[in-house]
Amino acid sequence: MTGAAVAHTVMQIQQSHSVLTPGSPETRLIDRLWNAMYFTSVVVFLLVVVALLWAVFRRRTAEASAAAAAPATSPERERRLTTAVGVATGLTVLILFGFLVSDISAGRQLTKNPGDQALQIRVTGHQWWWEVQYRDSIAQNWVTTANEIHIPAGRPVVLELRSTDVIHSFWPPSLSQKRDLIPGDANSLWFQADTPGVYRGQCLEYCGLQHAKMGFLVLADAPADFATWLAGQRDTARTPTDSVTRRGQEVFLASSCVMCHAIGGTPAGSRIGPDLTHLASRQTIAAGTLPNTRGNLAGWILNPQAIKPGTRMPPNQFSPDDLQALLTYLETLK
Ligand code: CUA
Repeated sequence: MTGAAVAHTVMQIQQSHSVLTPGSPETRLIDRLWNAMYFTSVVVFLLVVVALLWAVFRRRTAEASAAAAAPATSPERERRLTTAVGVATGLTVLILFGFLVSDISAGRQLTKNPGDQALQIRVTGHQWWWEVQYRDSIAQNWVTTANEIHIPAGRPVVLELRSTDVIHSFWPPSLSQKRDLIPGDANSLWFQADTPGVYRGQCLEYCGLQHAKMGFLVLADAPADFATWLAGQRDTARTPTDSVTRRGQEVFLASSCVMCHAIGGTPAGSRIGPDLTHLASRQTIAAGTLPNTRGNLAGWILNPQAIKPGTRMPPNQFSPDDLQALLTYLETLK
């Protein structure tokens, strides 16, 4: 990826990492509800301030002129006050009831069945990364990736949310409400991205030392691009075609990398860490922590504890030649 492309992606991500920039019908609904509550509250607040100021200044004028006169209480004044308080209370109840009704109706729309044409994706939370799986009736077509969830824009997706260790919470603020991932249980959540784009998301339940570095990206593709991406992910990893890449694959298979990682089409098949079959097609590494560049990958492989202290990945030692060959090999895993 070129520098300009990285800058562009980062900009896109920043733009769409906010509840205030809704990118799906669900978040637009929540945004409308929030705006209605916010502006109604602002108007009520201003009215209360005006009433308060009016009462303060009116009382002062009244006090000045009442120095010699009789006390300003009369049955008629009492009646006026009672009416004003009654009207204000009635209005408050009406407004709160309006909020309640619109809140319940928004909640019902958010939980309604998205229909049969929704795409099913399984997202599993791990300390501290996201496993993403696209299942299929044919087991060979299953696609497993990490930290980047490709979805087709304009089509609902249903996420099956699971956890292998502690409670995590899935939240891409521009696209959906948040939902917990609970060990031993499956939760589900659905949303739909209006337009293609990159949307950042974050774990929202404190889940240990690196909770803050448990980010992810939702990449909404045009439907044709999504189909191309999914078909590409179904392929096994590219077979090395030159001596350096071949050497890199040998380094990988002979190292402790295979204890935790899988690369499709090779003997490496462990599911403890992220699947690396198409690592080079991902924009970031370490759950959204770093852009996926050769230098960052090298730093991560050698000393992940310096980047994300407490991560399950141990430090590694390679000779410079082996490391360069390994990096070259990993970079071919598109
Ligand atoms: Cu996972 Cu916080």
